Amino acid sequence: MVELVLPKNSKVAKGKSWKAPLVDGKKPKNTRAFRIYRYDPDGDANPRLDTYHVNLDDCGPMVLDAMIWIKNKVDPTLTFRRSCREGVCGSCAMNVDGRNTLACTKATDDVSGAVAIYPLPHMDVVKDLVPDLTGAYAQYQSIEPWLKTETPAPQDEWKQSIEQREKLDGLYECILCFCCTTSCPSYWWNSDKYLGPATLLQAYRWLADSRDEATAARLDNLEDPFRLYRCHTIMNCATTCPKGLNPAKAIGEIKRMMAERVV
Ligand code: SF4
Ligand code: SF4
Ligand code: FES
Repeated sequence: MVELVLPKNSKVAKGKSWKAPLVDGKKPKNTRAFRIYRYDPDGDANPRLDTYHVNLDDCGPMVLDAMIWIKNKVDPTLTFRRSCREGVCGSCAMNVDGRNTLACTKATDDVSGAVAIYPLPHMDVVKDLVPDLTGAYAQYQSIEPWLKTETPAPQDEWKQSIEQREKLDGLYECILCFCCTTSCPSYWWNSDKYLGPATLLQAYRWLADSRDEATAARLDNLEDPFRLYRCHTIMNCATTCPKGLNPAKAIGEIKRMMAERVV
């Protein structure tokens, strides 16, 4: 009989409980528990779930505000990425209350009970809530995400009509947070070969750009049973995108271009 042994880091231990600091010698009244995944792959210990009691009267309304409060006032070792704190840089992507999202645009009040926070799923963890995005960025680089032209550059600018520019709506807003990619079951099982929804949405962003002149080469680069065709329209990507984008639709457009291509 086959005996399956789970890797050590798949077993999450119960962690520490951290009280909120006293205010004027008294316990704060308006607190909320945050249960946060802690893991250092360089150490020997299993991951653990620490519970932090956050004084909501002493921090901002978003989940990221509470995390910054924890780091500043309770536990400086808690590790996470963030930069803009307004949903434009994509660095604070994590799994909050069972869903991939941006911690800076997720309100604590939108979660009932304890706030559970894990790193983006199915990625290696650098530390705590920081996923290793090396592979995802290499895939993004592989689609050559920049304007490619052959005709001589115009003196002023590459012009687009209003209609041509509108074709980029729903694409240019992507902030590369990878919430979609890490919620995609096809990506979980084939992340070494399938490009995943974020990179494919970006691939379509350049295919849809009227100024780009590398359409045939871009399609050649995607023509592969795994890189593009592992999308099975499960739609987790569109459901989870914190910017309200629809990568599955963009992937469908690439498949249509493949089917209709004459070059
Ligand atoms: S629609 Fe495609 S890309 Fe989106 S989650 Fe499903 S399989 Fe993944
Ligand atoms: S499509 Fe949405 S979820 Fe995916 S990387 Fe872009 S902004 Fe993030
Ligand atoms: S901190 Fe930039 S998107 Fe959240």
